[in-house]
Amino acid sequence: MQNARTIIRPVNSDSDPRAAQSVRPFVHVLADSSDKLSSICAALEPQFAVAGERLDADAKLSELPFAIVIRAELRDVDNIASIKRRSARLAKATKRIFLVDHSSHACISQAYALGATLVLPGLLNKAKLLAALADPAEPSSDSAPGSAQPDDAVETAATAIASMFSSVTLGQPLDVDATKEAGRKIADRITQHGLSEWLTTVRRHHEGTYQHCLLVTGVAIDFGLSLGVRRADLERLYSAAMFHDIGKAQIPLAILDKPARLDPDERAMIETHPAAGYDFLKSHDNISPEILDAVRHHHEYLDGSGYPDAFCGESIKDLVRILTISDIFAALIEHRHYKPTMPRPDAYNILCGMTGKLEKALVTAFKEVALSR
Ligand SMILES: [Fe+2]
Ligand SMILES: [Fe+2]
Repeated sequence: MQNARTIIRPVNSDSDPRAAQSVRPFVHVLADSSDKLSSICAALEPQFAVAGERLDADAKLSELPFAIVIRAELRDVDNIASIKRRSARLAKATKRIFLVDHSSHACISQAYALGATLVLPGLLNKAKLLAALADPAEPSSDSAPGSAQPDDAVETAATAIASMFSSVTLGQPLDVDATKEAGRKIADRITQHGLSEWLTTVRRHHEGTYQHCLLVTGVAIDFGLSLGVRRADLERLYSAAMFHDIGKAQIPLAILDKPARLDPDERAMIETHPAAGYDFLKSHDNISPEILDAVRHHHEYLDGSGYPDAFCGESIKDLVRILTISDIFAALIEHRHYKPTMPRPDAYNILCGMTGKLEKALVTAFKEVALSR
């Protein structure tokens, strides 16, 4: 049975898609137009068994896909409502990949808020989509559907970071308490399961700036725990880590996610983010001066070679020093589709080579976090 709004395309001649599923992984495609639906279905065949459904159709398909691919205009409230209606089924898919035509932080954050595990902005890129579906760093198609679901801490934190970025873009006040609460959940999760489990889960489910913020927060928390900092300092640390790159919300994604070396103008634009983040956050009452200081100065180095204020030595507080080491390490071990993930020992060696810039005693103390926790 096929109509204009529903397409089922098993990869073999058997008309039952469940038979196809036993041969190839089953991917469910949702789109807001027949053209988009057809183009994605065509891109995924013949590697996957594909079923497609337009968002304005009744949610009929009941197969359990390992991945759902959604391509829709997320500025359209009807599309958002249609995706929300399917949220229970969406949650059962191991991979939930959103293709957003309009590359804005608001659309990307909307996708994460709707449950995306990965967002690919820009025009449909078949190679990128197939790579994301086949990516071994993502949950494998052999795993039982639902078995690799991110838990509440990852989803809460990713949603908090996404909504933080869209608040900046839209010029709206930030939900500071929700962001801090998400940080607390990460702290609980890492206390219970350790840092390695957090790194693996985050890298499996998130990309780009959101992944980076989640990794930095996790690394900073574990570093704080290993140093035995007081609970109040740990709270400051995870809040600062959650907020630290909020100034990047004003930088085009084409620069933030550029898979090549930045030119001098792009580098100069990136370097505006600590001060931009500080300027945005300072108008909020419930963000302490220590957190504001960490956001503004997380790219300063002890030898004065950092930015934006070329601080050096004692001007750089302990909280900032911990955050800076966590930030650099997390950036080095990020998972990106266009480059291999750097092993943790290699990343730690780079920190050790930054003589004069980072506090030596802290880098030494970080060894256990970097290599074995
Ligand atoms: Fe930064
Ligand atoms: Fe950062």
